[in-house]
Amino acid sequence: MKFFIDTANLAQIKEAQELGVLDGVTTNPSLMAKEGITGEKNILQHYIDICNIVDGDVSAEVIATDFDGMVREGEALAALHEQIVVKIPMIKEGVKALKYFSNKGIRTNCTLVFSPGQAILAAKAGATYVSPFIGRLDDISQNGVDFIAQIRQIYDNYMFETQILAASIRHTMHIIECAEVGADVVTCPLNAIMGLLKHPLTDSGLAQFLADYKKGG
Ligand code: G3P
Repeated sequence: MKFFIDTANLAQIKEAQELGVLDGVTTNPSLMAKEGITGEKNILQHYIDICNIVDGDVSAEVIATDFDGMVREGEALAALHEQIVVKIPMIKEGVKALKYFSNKGIRTNCTLVFSPGQAILAAKAGATYVSPFIGRLDDISQNGVDFIAQIRQIYDNYMFETQILAASIRHTMHIIECAEVGADVVTCPLNAIMGLLKHPLTDSGLAQFLADYKKGG
């Protein structure tokens, strides 16, 4: 399972990269705005800065909602850096754009996916990644992890190559549950990744080992 970090915060991206388990980054316009990154020039530079920190895929989202605009923006994003994956919303024009980029060998991440039908369309259009938003489904009393399992079954039935990128992950248990049902990728806030480290028996066990070592000395 690949680990992506879901942020545009360079310090957090560096921290996750230094941990040695990071496979990529996802961003979106809201995450960019949260870091105060505005204006096309600054946003494009920020993507390059992120690519220079990590080794893996970096999703960069188009703003246009029409086919021509998505193609124009997506091609510019893809030309920025070889690690860029063009993020396209799951709308009618977006499906056309996914197919266009797939034909051109440009990698894509289909975002804002909330139903199995949308996941099928993304795969049929040749998306590299599909991003089901599990936290937002949980928010409206639909089980987000069950949705990941449903997509896993559908994709396995037909050997679709689109990778399931579980997004809108809110906490550590989401990561573990996504691993149990076979998500290919999880994109997470840093604190959810760091939560995987924690266990009180590790802490108390280590404290005991160190205390016993000192006694011996
Ligand atoms: O990966 C998508 C993510 O950024 C959305 O997360 O917490 O706003 O639903 P959230």
